[in-house]
Amino acid sequence: MSSVTAFDHEIVKMTFIDLPFVLKIERRGYTHPWSEGIFRDCINSGYECWLLTYLGKVIGHGIMTVAAGESHVLNVCFHPECQGHGFGRIMVEHLVGRARVANARRMYLEVRPSNLIAYKLYESLGFNEVGVRPNYYPAFVGREDALVLAMDL
Ligand SMILES: CC(C)(COP(=O)(O)OP(=O)(O)OC[C@H]1O[C@@H](n2cnc3c(N)ncnc32)[C@H](O)[C@@H]1OP(=O)(O)O)[C@@H](O)C(=O)NCCC(=O)NCCS
Repeated sequence: MSSVTAFDHEIVKMTFIDLPFVLKIERRGYTHPWSEGIFRDCINSGYECWLLTYLGKVIGHGIMTVAAGESHVLNVCFHPECQGHGFGRIMVEHLVGRARVANARRMYLEVRPSNLIAYKLYESLGFNEVGVRPNYYPAFVGREDALVLAMDL
């Protein structure tokens, strides 16, 4: 894959039919992936559930909630072979746009301190560290804290 153009990718709503593709990417992207049930709950609850397709193939997803003027990014994940090509940035920018449309004034997310690539992406988009949730994530040994990042919209 070389450079990304506006014509070869699309962001579309996730449906139940997409879940086999989403789960494959989720399991490749994370050491501790979400279960199918969690994705089903997100779609059933009317959360912002989006897919990015590249040349017609699903390569990543982004999930966010918006309520009471706040948005919360819950998941952003791309197939490892499609990482580092700008798609993660495109997806998070899309979520920021959706949060604005829904009149959110602030956007939150959690990130592992060890996930420097994600941290750099969020920081470059204007997110700042506002807190720590101790022992938030499962890890191979014990648990890992989450950094809480936020951005005013
Ligand atoms: C985190 C993730 C969503 C980023 O998406 P991506 O498509 O790989 O990232 P992009 O190519 O859009 O790069 C966005 C920014 O991330 C940072 N970045 C990307 N690859 C990087 C690398 N190898 N080293 C350091 N920073 C990197 C840079 O700041 C980059 O911006 P720049 O290219 O303008 O300098 C993706 O890597 C992923 O799916 N990881 C696994 C799941 C995950 O960790 N999700 C986040 C949970 S909070």
